Amino acid sequence: MDRIPEPDLMDDPAQAEAYHRADFTEAHEHFVTLFRQLFEAGSWAGPVLDLGCGTADVTRRFARVFDDQPIHGVDGAEAMLRLGREMLEWEGLNCRVELFCRYLPVDQLPEPRYGAVISNSLLHHLQDPLTLWSVIRRFAAPGAPILVMDLLRPATSERAAELVALHAAGEAEILRRDFFNSLCAAYRPHEVEQQIREAGLEGIDVTTVSDRHWIAWGRA
Ligand SMILES: C[S@@+](CC[C@H](N)C(=O)[O-])C[C@H]1O[C@@H](n2cnc3c(N)ncnc32)[C@H](O)[C@@H]1O
Repeated sequence: MDRIPEPDLMDDPAQAEAYHRADFTEAHEHFVTLFRQLFEAGSWAGPVLDLGCGTADVTRRFARVFDDQPIHGVDGAEAMLRLGREMLEWEGLNCRVELFCRYLPVDQLPEPRYGAVISNSLLHHLQDPLTLWSVIRRFAAPGAPILVMDLLRPATSERAAELVALHAAGEAEILRRDFFNSLCAAYRPHEVEQQIREAGLEGIDVTTVSDRHWIAWGRA
């Protein structure tokens, strides 16, 4: 199946609300666990940059585990960020975790360099995937851990529908539609490896970690 792009920003309030209400516990906890396994505690220090943070569900899970690190989340969709900010305030994380409305790519962020860069499920939204890798290259401090996770485009649209049925059976229709479209828009590991080479990033490996996810990880 060839890639079918989807719109980049998730700025429709109904779409943002459905995303915010969905249960991403399995995938998002997996993300944080992988980070802990891949990067030894004490071998890095924030601030952390979360690119395409959306409603900040990964951001808050990360913040709970790494409870002494400041985190900046960046996203271009105010509809997503508004829900994220409310949740962070509710959980008392808003003094350590800040969300910024920025459309990537950017030349400037609140910090000139970040001690770790994370991103989940942003890449498949980007028409030019080098946007993500160039921002990472620009803002990751030397030696900073990098962990990017995203969906993996299945071989056929039938397989994409199967994955939606398997992993999002109880979710709202709008969320199931978005998940199907995201699977069709996703990049495959060999495509990601090519992007990373083109961006001139070295020392980043790409590994498949579930029936629908790959990670790209390493140090800047
Ligand atoms: C599928 S959501 C992932 C949100 C979050 N990382 C998570 O895992 O729950 C993708 C997010 O990327 C954002 N996005 C897409 N293209 C962007 C761009 N060029 N600049 C900034 N944000 C972008 C969308 O607005 C959306 O909130």
